[in-house]
Amino acid sequence: PTTLLLVALLAYLLGSVPFGIVITRAMGLGDLRQIGSGNIGATNVLRTGNKAAAAATLVLDAAKGGIAVLIARAMVGEDAAQVAALASFLGHLFPVWLRFKGGKGVATFLGTLLALSWPIGLACCATWLVAAALGRISSLAALVAAASSTFWMLALGQGRMLFLGIILTLLVFWRHSANIQRLRAGTEPKIGQK
Ligand code: G3P
Repeated sequence: PTTLLLVALLAYLLGSVPFGIVITRAMGLGDLRQIGSGNIGATNVLRTGNKAAAAATLVLDAAKGGIAVLIARAMVGEDAAQVAALASFLGHLFPVWLRFKGGKGVATFLGTLLALSWPIGLACCATWLVAAALGRISSLAALVAAASSTFWMLALGQGRMLFLGIILTLLVFWRHSANIQRLRAGTEPKIGQK
Protein backbone atom coordinates (compact mmCIF):
# COMPACT_ATOMS: atom_id res chain seq x y z
CA PRO A 1 0.00 0.00 0.00
CA THR A 2 2.84 2.46 0.75
CA THR A 3 4.29 1.79 -2.69
CA LEU A 4 0.94 2.41 -4.35
CA LEU A 5 0.52 5.65 -2.40
CA LEU A 6 3.94 6.81 -3.58
CA VAL A 7 3.06 5.86 -7.16
CA ALA A 8 -0.22 7.80 -6.85
CA LEU A 9 1.54 10.86 -5.44
CA LEU A 10 4.21 10.90 -8.15
CA ALA A 11 1.60 10.40 -10.87
CA TYR A 12 -0.61 13.11 -9.38
CA LEU A 13 2.31 15.56 -9.40
CA LEU A 14 3.15 14.70 -13.02
CA GLY A 15 -0.49 15.08 -14.03
CA SER A 16 -0.82 18.36 -12.18
CA VAL A 17 1.64 20.21 -14.44
CA PRO A 18 -0.70 22.52 -16.42
CA PHE A 19 1.18 22.60 -19.72
CA GLY A 20 -1.43 24.82 -21.38
CA ILE A 21 -0.80 27.54 -18.81
CA VAL A 22 2.96 27.03 -18.79
CA ILE A 23 3.24 27.17 -22.61
CA THR A 24 0.89 30.12 -23.19
CA ARG A 25 2.67 32.12 -20.48
CA ALA A 26 6.12 31.24 -21.80
CA MET A 27 5.09 32.23 -25.33
CA GLY A 28 3.39 35.43 -24.18
CA LEU A 29 0.00 34.40 -25.57
CA GLY A 30 -2.03 35.98 -22.78
CA ASP A 31 -4.00 34.63 -19.84
CA LEU A 32 -5.59 31.34 -20.90
CA ARG A 33 -8.19 31.73 -18.15
CA GLN A 34 -9.49 34.86 -19.89
CA ILE A 35 -9.64 33.27 -23.34
CA GLY A 36 -12.51 31.21 -24.84
CA SER A 37 -13.82 28.62 -22.39
CA GLY A 38 -11.12 29.54 -19.85
CA ASN A 39 -10.02 25.90 -19.83
CA ILE A 40 -6.33 24.95 -19.61
CA GLY A 41 -6.40 22.37 -22.41
CA ALA A 42 -5.13 22.27 -25.99
CA THR A 43 -8.55 23.14 -27.47
CA ASN A 44 -8.55 26.43 -25.61
CA VAL A 45 -4.87 27.10 -26.31
CA LEU A 46 -5.81 26.87 -30.02
CA ARG A 47 -8.16 29.84 -29.44
CA THR A 48 -5.07 32.01 -28.92
CA GLY A 49 -4.50 31.39 -32.63
CA ASN A 50 -1.18 29.63 -32.04
CA LYS A 51 -1.34 26.10 -33.47
CA ALA A 52 2.15 25.10 -32.31
CA ALA A 53 1.29 26.02 -28.72
CA ALA A 54 -1.93 23.99 -28.94
CA ALA A 55 -0.12 20.98 -30.42
CA ALA A 56 2.57 21.16 -27.73
CA THR A 57 -0.10 21.35 -25.02
CA LEU A 58 -1.90 18.33 -26.46
CA VAL A 59 1.28 16.25 -26.71
CA LEU A 60 2.64 17.22 -23.27
CA ASP A 61 -0.70 16.82 -21.44
CA ALA A 62 -0.99 13.36 -23.02
CA ALA A 63 2.67 12.51 -22.38
CA LYS A 64 2.52 13.30 -18.65
CA GLY A 65 -0.24 10.71 -18.22
CA GLY A 66 1.53 8.17 -20.39
CA ILE A 67 4.85 8.65 -18.64
CA ALA A 68 3.24 8.28 -15.21
CA VAL A 69 1.79 4.93 -16.34
CA LEU A 70 5.07 3.71 -17.85
CA ILE A 71 7.08 4.62 -14.75
CA ALA A 72 4.58 2.91 -12.45
CA ARG A 73 4.51 -0.22 -14.60
CA ALA A 74 8.30 -0.42 -14.81
CA MET A 75 8.83 0.15 -11.10
CA VAL A 76 5.90 -1.75 -9.59
CA GLY A 77 3.55 -3.48 -12.03
CA GLU A 78 0.24 -3.46 -13.85
CA ASP A 79 -2.01 -2.57 -10.89
CA ALA A 80 0.24 0.38 -10.11
CA ALA A 81 0.03 1.45 -13.76
CA GLN A 82 -3.74 1.76 -13.42
CA VAL A 83 -3.39 3.68 -10.15
CA ALA A 84 -0.94 6.02 -11.90
CA ALA A 85 -3.39 6.53 -14.77
CA LEU A 86 -6.15 7.60 -12.38
CA ALA A 87 -3.81 9.73 -10.23
CA SER A 88 -2.24 11.62 -13.16
CA PHE A 89 -5.70 12.22 -14.62
CA LEU A 90 -6.89 13.59 -11.26
CA GLY A 91 -3.72 15.69 -11.11
CA HIS A 92 -4.74 17.35 -14.38
CA LEU A 93 -8.31 17.90 -13.17
CA PHE A 94 -7.36 19.12 -9.70
CA PRO A 95 -3.84 20.61 -9.76
CA VAL A 96 -2.67 21.93 -6.41
CA TRP A 97 -0.83 24.73 -8.31
CA LEU A 98 -4.11 26.14 -9.66
CA ARG A 99 -6.06 25.89 -6.41
CA PHE A 100 -7.38 22.53 -7.68
CA LYS A 101 -9.11 24.17 -10.66
CA GLY A 102 -7.70 22.24 -13.59
CA GLY A 103 -8.73 20.88 -16.94
CA LYS A 104 -11.16 18.43 -18.50
CA GLY A 105 -8.71 15.56 -18.88
CA VAL A 106 -9.13 14.58 -22.51
CA ALA A 107 -5.47 14.64 -23.59
CA THR A 108 -4.31 13.06 -20.32
CA PHE A 109 -7.02 10.39 -20.64
CA LEU A 110 -5.77 9.51 -24.15
CA GLY A 111 -2.14 9.50 -23.00
CA THR A 112 -2.80 7.10 -20.13
CA LEU A 113 -4.81 4.81 -22.40
CA LEU A 114 -2.00 4.72 -24.98
CA ALA A 115 0.45 3.68 -22.24
CA LEU A 116 -1.89 1.19 -20.58
CA SER A 117 -2.83 -0.51 -23.84
CA TRP A 118 -1.75 1.10 -27.11
CA PRO A 119 -4.48 -0.58 -29.21
CA ILE A 120 -7.15 0.92 -26.90
CA GLY A 121 -5.38 4.28 -26.92
CA LEU A 122 -5.08 4.29 -30.71
CA ALA A 123 -8.73 3.26 -31.10
CA CYS A 124 -9.86 6.12 -28.85
CA CYS A 125 -7.58 8.64 -30.62
CA ALA A 126 -8.97 7.46 -33.97
CA THR A 127 -12.50 7.81 -32.60
CA TRP A 128 -11.71 11.38 -31.51
CA LEU A 129 -10.27 12.18 -34.96
CA VAL A 130 -13.26 10.75 -36.85
CA ALA A 131 -15.76 12.50 -34.57
CA ALA A 132 -13.81 15.77 -34.85
CA ALA A 133 -13.60 15.48 -38.63
CA LEU A 134 -17.36 14.91 -38.84
CA GLY A 135 -18.58 17.39 -36.22
CA ARG A 136 -15.68 19.89 -36.01
CA ILE A 137 -16.40 20.33 -32.28
CA SER A 138 -13.65 19.35 -29.84
CA SER A 139 -15.84 18.71 -26.80
CA LEU A 140 -18.24 16.53 -28.78
CA ALA A 141 -15.35 14.51 -30.18
CA ALA A 142 -13.98 14.14 -26.64
CA LEU A 143 -17.31 12.87 -25.29
CA VAL A 144 -17.67 10.38 -28.15
CA ALA A 145 -14.05 9.19 -27.73
CA ALA A 146 -14.38 8.84 -23.95
CA ALA A 147 -17.63 6.92 -24.25
CA SER A 148 -16.10 4.71 -26.94
CA SER A 149 -13.33 3.60 -24.58
CA THR A 150 -15.66 1.16 -22.81
CA PHE A 151 -16.65 -0.34 -26.14
CA TRP A 152 -13.02 -0.67 -27.29
CA MET A 153 -11.95 -2.28 -23.99
CA LEU A 154 -14.63 -4.94 -24.41
CA ALA A 155 -14.11 -5.38 -28.15
CA LEU A 156 -10.32 -5.67 -27.85
CA GLY A 157 -10.36 -7.99 -24.82
CA GLN A 158 -9.07 -5.53 -22.22
CA GLY A 159 -11.81 -6.06 -19.62
CA ARG A 160 -9.19 -5.57 -16.87
CA MET A 161 -9.22 -1.86 -17.79
CA LEU A 162 -13.00 -1.53 -17.77
CA PHE A 163 -13.47 -0.23 -14.22
CA LEU A 164 -10.80 2.44 -14.69
CA GLY A 165 -12.17 3.30 -18.11
CA ILE A 166 -15.69 3.84 -16.77
CA ILE A 167 -14.45 6.07 -13.91
CA LEU A 168 -12.36 8.21 -16.28
CA THR A 169 -15.22 8.45 -18.78
CA LEU A 170 -17.68 9.59 -16.09
CA LEU A 171 -15.18 12.21 -14.92
CA VAL A 172 -14.65 13.44 -18.51
CA PHE A 173 -18.42 13.80 -18.93
CA TRP A 174 -18.78 15.59 -15.60
CA ARG A 175 -15.99 18.06 -16.51
CA HIS A 176 -17.78 18.77 -19.79
CA SER A 177 -21.08 19.79 -18.13
CA ALA A 178 -20.86 23.35 -19.48
CA ASN A 179 -19.89 22.03 -22.93
CA ILE A 180 -22.84 19.60 -22.88
CA GLN A 181 -25.19 22.49 -22.10
CA ARG A 182 -23.74 24.51 -24.98
CA LEU A 183 -23.96 21.48 -27.29
CA ARG A 184 -27.66 21.09 -26.43
CA ALA A 185 -28.24 24.80 -26.97
CA GLY A 186 -26.35 24.66 -30.27
CA THR A 187 -23.87 27.29 -29.11
CA GLU A 188 -20.71 25.20 -28.71
CA PRO A 189 -17.98 26.70 -30.92
CA LYS A 190 -16.28 24.71 -33.68
CA ILE A 191 -12.58 23.86 -33.35
CA GLY A 192 -10.46 27.01 -33.53
CA GLN A 193 -13.41 29.38 -33.03
CA LYS A 194 -13.44 31.68 -30.03
O1 G3P B 1 -10.44 18.87 -24.06
C1 G3P B 1 -11.37 19.80 -23.71
C2 G3P B 1 -12.31 19.94 -24.86
O2 G3P B 1 -13.04 18.77 -24.99
C3 G3P B 1 -13.20 21.10 -24.69
O3 G3P B 1 -12.45 22.25 -24.44
O4 G3P B 1 -12.09 24.66 -24.23
O5 G3P B 1 -13.89 23.82 -25.74
O6 G3P B 1 -14.15 23.63 -23.28
P1 G3P B 1 -13.18 23.65 -24.39
